[in-house]
Amino acid sequence: MKSTPLLLCFEDEQESAGRIAHAGSMGLVKIERHRFPDGEIKLRLPDTLPEHVVILRTMNDPNEKLVELLLAAQTARDLGARHLTLVAPYLAYMRQDIAFRPGEAISQRIVGRFLASLFNAVVTVDPHLHRVTTLQEAVPVASAVVLSGAPLLSDLIASRRQQPLLVGPDEESAQWVALAAARHGFDYAVCRKVRNGDRAVDVALPDRAVTGRQVVLLDDVASTGHTVARAAHLLLAAGAVSVDVAVTHALFAGDALQVMLDAGVGEVWSTDCISHPSNSVSMASTIAEALTRIQVAV
Ligand code: R5P
Repeated sequence: MKSTPLLLCFEDEQESAGRIAHAGSMGLVKIERHRFPDGEIKLRLPDTLPEHVVILRTMNDPNEKLVELLLAAQTARDLGARHLTLVAPYLAYMRQDIAFRPGEAISQRIVGRFLASLFNAVVTVDPHLHRVTTLQEAVPVASAVVLSGAPLLSDLIASRRQQPLLVGPDEESAQWVALAAARHGFDYAVCRKVRNGDRAVDVALPDRAVTGRQVVLLDDVASTGHTVARAAHLLLAAGAVSVDVAVTHALFAGDALQVMLDAGVGEVWSTDCISHPSNSVSMASTIAEALTRIQVAV
């Protein structure tokens, strides 16, 4: 059975939900949310729901959102939803994919299984999969759909810079940099990174001349901003005429934007997976199109 799903969203994501609903000609309803003085939350969904329901929740600041998803998904089932899709443009907890020291929680596996216990399908954008190759390994749902912001960021870069050199700030960024570069025939290269702490990273530039080049650093995410800041500093010192930053997910914790600007970064561009003033391209049409491809068996 194929029917247009109903999209549910939270108040703080009404704008991005509106863009997705418009692109996919879907009905959109806001979930009512009350926060009690003691910190507990209460949700209220529409009292009858169609068989296919999509919940939008991007997962920056993820901890409370995990509880919201638990409450919302189980309530949606109680109210008639038989196929539940989670659209999490940013999927949190994907970076902790092994126990780096004995005793550490493998958050990717735990959060992935938790989401799979609630939803039939998950749609996300550029999840940080490093030591696992497919999203389904991390989130074992029937439909695990991975989209990428790299093509649209590449189009934006093509419209703003002449013959740019795309640079990935670490080896893990190679997949997104290669994808973005191939779309417009850009040159690209990838740095090597050693992380010594949350805000302490060493970056080694690639063996590639950057003198006189307009460089764009491209990655899935900037969090504290120190990775791209360190790379930008070194690229400018090596002769790049400009360094801009393009990321899918503008996590930008604390003073991250200032950290990047202080390092000499010119422009900062991001997708609207996480709402931020740097948002320059929208993933709404891509997400809406992906939703039409999900097999719904109800
Ligand atoms: C990890 O490898 C990611 O791709 C990013 O490079 C990383 O999360 C950036 O973190 P930060 O902005 O805190 O340096």
